Amino acid sequence: MARRILAAGNWKMNGLQADGLALASGLAAQRKSESNAKVDMLVCPPFVLISKVVDAVAGSGIMVGGQDCHMTEKGAHTGDTSAWMLKDTGCTHVIVGHSERRTNHGETDDVVKAKAEAALAAGLVAIVCIGETLEERDAGKTLDVNRRQLLGSLPDGATAANTVVAYEPVWAIGTGRTATPEQAQEVHAMLRGELVGKLGQGIADDMLILYGGSMNAKNAKELLAQTDIDGGLIGGAALKVDDFMTISHSAP
Ligand code: 13P
Repeated sequence: MARRILAAGNWKMNGLQADGLALASGLAAQRKSESNAKVDMLVCPPFVLISKVVDAVAGSGIMVGGQDCHMTEKGAHTGDTSAWMLKDTGCTHVIVGHSERRTNHGETDDVVKAKAEAALAAGLVAIVCIGETLEERDAGKTLDVNRRQLLGSLPDGATAANTVVAYEPVWAIGTGRTATPEQAQEVHAMLRGELVGKLGQGIADDMLILYGGSMNAKNAKELLAQTDIDGGLIGGAALKVDDFMTISHSAP
């Protein structure tokens, strides 16, 4: 199975209904006019917009995902949303372990792993995020940190069909400071090697590893040309129809 590039937009906490719907329908309209798209597309809106975005992109092939989920199916967890609820609302994917969740909500690798396992149990694809801080990079710990986060956060039962890895260096998120293609490829190649050891060559060869961190319409082509970069998890540039569509046209 050849890996098919995935352009995933993480809208984070941006957009009121009118913005989200304009973005979703703008993307859907363009996507519908493309007969031979080479890249899969996913949008991850804020929870409150998911239902409407699912309707807005219907028939376009664009998939919809959540930005987080709880680790259990239901219960007394005020403010949380379960993977089963996301699935029921029309989601196919959910992001877990984004660095903003790890930092703002104290999520550890164990928590991220449990959330990813809930996603799998609910029938969603888990997008498992990892990435080093600038301090860790400067201290020469990049590969160690990412290895530890990968092995600690991967769900039991991970396959190429149910799990996607996203490498997002924290220092590149929202800063306009992108990892160079070589910096990103170095980490992605290490991650692929770890996946071989953990899951076997077949699964590792097929599993998508996305890059995230200031990916935009200008730098996407160079990043996506790297052997082990299989797509992007895109924040700011995914909020503009034209930029996100350009990224989706940047597959090698
Ligand atoms: P930016 O593309 O805005 O840097 O955000 C990346 C990100 O965090 C996607 O999850």
